[in-house]
Amino acid sequence: MPDRSAPIVRGYPHLLHGGDYNPEQWRQSPQAWDQDFQLLQQAACNTVTVGVFAWAALEPAEGRYDFNWMDAIFERCRSAGLRVILATPGGGMPAWLAKAYPEVLRVDSRGRRRRWGGRHNHCFTAPVYREKARIINGKLAERYGQHPMLSLWHVNNEYSGECHCDLCSAAFRQFLRRRYNDSLDALNHAWWSAFWSHTITNWDQIEPPSREIGEFQVHGQTLDWKRFITHQTIDCFKEEAEPLRQISPGVPVTTNLMMGGFTDVDYYHLADACDVVSWDSYPSYHDRPGDYFGPLGPLWVSFIHNQRRAMKKKPFLLMEMSPGAQNYKPVCKLKRPGVHQAEALQAIAHGSDSVLYFQVRKSRGGVEKFHGAVIDHFATPEARVFREVAEVGRVLQGLDEVVGTHSRADVAFIYDYQNRWALNDAAGPINLKKDKDYDPVCREHYRPFWSAGVNVDVISMDQPFDGYKLLVAPMLYMVRPGVAERIEKFIDAGGTFVTTFLSGVANESDLAFTNGFPGPLRGVTGVWAEEIDALYDDEQVPIVAGENIAGLSGRYGANFLCDVIHAEGADVLATYGGEFYAGRPAVTRNAFGRGRAYYIAARTDARFNADFYNHQIQDLGLRRALDANLPDGVTAATRGDGRTRFTFVLSFRGEPCEIQIGPAQQGFTNALTGETVGRRLMLPAYGTLVLRSDVHEGDEG
Ligand code: GLA
Ligand code: ZN
Repeated sequence: MPDRSAPIVRGYPHLLHGGDYNPEQWRQSPQAWDQDFQLLQQAACNTVTVGVFAWAALEPAEGRYDFNWMDAIFERCRSAGLRVILATPGGGMPAWLAKAYPEVLRVDSRGRRRRWGGRHNHCFTAPVYREKARIINGKLAERYGQHPMLSLWHVNNEYSGECHCDLCSAAFRQFLRRRYNDSLDALNHAWWSAFWSHTITNWDQIEPPSREIGEFQVHGQTLDWKRFITHQTIDCFKEEAEPLRQISPGVPVTTNLMMGGFTDVDYYHLADACDVVSWDSYPSYHDRPGDYFGPLGPLWVSFIHNQRRAMKKKPFLLMEMSPGAQNYKPVCKLKRPGVHQAEALQAIAHGSDSVLYFQVRKSRGGVEKFHGAVIDHFATPEARVFREVAEVGRVLQGLDEVVGTHSRADVAFIYDYQNRWALNDAAGPINLKKDKDYDPVCREHYRPFWSAGVNVDVISMDQPFDGYKLLVAPMLYMVRPGVAERIEKFIDAGGTFVTTFLSGVANESDLAFTNGFPGPLRGVTGVWAEEIDALYDDEQVPIVAGENIAGLSGRYGANFLCDVIHAEGADVLATYGGEFYAGRPAVTRNAFGRGRAYYIAARTDARFNADFYNHQIQDLGLRRALDANLPDGVTAATRGDGRTRFTFVLSFRGEPCEIQIGPAQQGFTNALTGETVGRRLMLPAYGTLVLRSDVHEGDEG
C-alpha cells in the first residue's frame, strides 16, 4: 500500500469544503448568485456540487438544452477559484420524460405504477430512462468534461428503492438464469422450493417478491431479489457513467451512498463500481446529549466512516452533511454551537478528504426550505451557522498535509449487507422487532474500540483479512462459500477471531448448515451450538466468569439470544449462571494453528464487552491513537503517511474535559497552531484537537 494516495481531485492537494448548490432556482435573480459567490468565499469554501436534480433546467424539453446558466456558474467558479463537482441529473426526472415515456416510472410491490413527482423514482431497467440519462450526461461531459474547474463526477443521487415493472421482472429472471446457469433444479434447490409446493417449473413463473400481494417468505428468492436490485442499480450507474468515463477519462466518478437502513443495495459492490467512495451523513449528536452510542450518535458515524474508508483502503469524500438543523426529524433541534465542527473533523479523522454540505443555499420553496444551509434565506455572514461553517473552512485550510493520508488498522470488523438481509428475513429465533438488531449488536462490539481510540477497518466478509491482528464478526449468520476457509487461514497464521451467537447458521441462499452450528466455523471455534434460546427484553441470564480469565471476572448479563453450546476442544472462559443451561459454556477460546478463536454465545452487556475487548487491545498490542483513558463520549483516530502522523482527538461531550497522555507518547504539536502539546489536553465542549507527530523508525504510522 502506498504511504499516501494522490489527491482525489487531480493536482488539488486540499481538503474539499463546500457542497450541493442549486443555483438553477435563482436563474431569474442573478444578484442572488453574486451574493452566493461572495459568501462562499467568505465561508472558506473551495468546492460546489452542481447539477443534482437539474434535469428540467438543463433540458427543458426533449432534445432542447439550456446550458447558459451552467456556463455562467462554471465561469463564476473559475473566477472565484471554486472547484466543481458536477452531478448528473438522473435523480429527479423532468415531467416531460415521464409523460412521453411512462415506463420510466417505477411500479410498486402491489403492481401500481407511480405518477410523476418526487425524486429517486426511476425504473433502473427501462431502456428509455437509461438512454435519456446517457444523452444528457454525454452533453454535460462534452461541454464541461475538459473544464479546468471540473473535479469529479457525481452520478445520480442516493440510489435506492426497487421497481416491480414488467421490464424489471424480466431482467430479474435473466439475472436468475445467469446465477443458476439456466438450471431450474439449481434454483429450486437454493430456494428450497419443495417446501409449501413452491417448485418452479418454468422461468416465467418467477415474480419479484411482494409482501403485499405475493411471495416474500422464500428466503433464497428475497436474497436473490436484493442481489438483483444491487446488480441492476450498478448496471444503471455504469451506463449513466459511461459517457463521462469516455469523454473525460481522467475525472473520477462517484455516487453518494447513504447512512444505511434506507437501501437494499450492497454498498460494497456499488463502491467497487466507483472510482471514489462518497457518502451522506445525517446524525443528530445534539438531539439527545450524552447518547454517544445510538443509531444517530457519533460512534455509529465513526463506524460508517471506517467502512467507507476500508471499502477502497483509500480516503473517501463526505459528500453531504447538514451545516444546521435537518428539517425532517420529529423535533428539528438546532445544532448546538461546536457540534458542526466536531462532526466535520470526525469525518476527516476517519479518512474523508472533504467536508461537503447539503446545502449551500436554502431553497425559497419546496420541502427542504427549512433544511440547514451555509447561506440562509436572509443571506448574511453574521448568521451563527454561517460563522461556524466559515470556521470549519479555516480549520480545513490548515490541514492540507492530511490529504491522501491513510489510516492503518490492526482490527477488521465484518459488517456485511447480505448477512444483514438474511438475518432480518429469518422468522425466529426472535421476532420482537422488525429486524434482528444486527446494527445495534455491531455497535455494542465496536464500542470498546471507539472508546479506546483504536482504528478499525469495517469490511465485508469478502474483503481480505491479511494484515490484521484481530477479526471481529458478530452475528455472522450467513457464511458464504470460501469465507470459513479464509477465516481459518487468518487464524492459522496467528490472527485472533471473535464471533458470537447466531453465527455459522446458513449459506448464501439461507439454507441451514447441517453439520452442527456454527457450521463451517465449528472446527475453528471448537464449539457446537446445539440450540438457541430467546429472551424477552426484560429478561437476563447471568454469565459467570472466574477470576480474570481473558480480562473477564465476576458476573455479567446475557440478553436477547443465548446459544446453548458444547465446548469441543475450546477452553471455557465463562459459563451461564441461570436457566436450564446454567453451568454450560457462555464464552470460549479455541487455540487453532498460531492463533485463536473466541465464541461469545450470547448478546453481552456493555461491561462484558468493555472487559473482553480491552483485554484483547492489551493482549494483542492493538495500536491506540492516544495512550490515555478517554472520557465517555471522546474518541481518537489517526491518519498518516509513514513519516507524519495526525492524531485526531474528538470530544462529543456537551461540556469541557481533560485528558492526560501517558509518558510514552511525546512529541505532539498542535497541527493547526504549531504549538507544542504537553501531556495534559484540554478539550472544550464538542472540541477537537489535531495533533501532529513524527513517525519513528520501526513504527508503522
Ligand atoms: C439527502 C439528499 C439531499 C437532501 C438531503 C437532506 O442526502 O441527497 O438532496 O435531500 O438528504 O438531508
Ligand atoms: Zn422497472
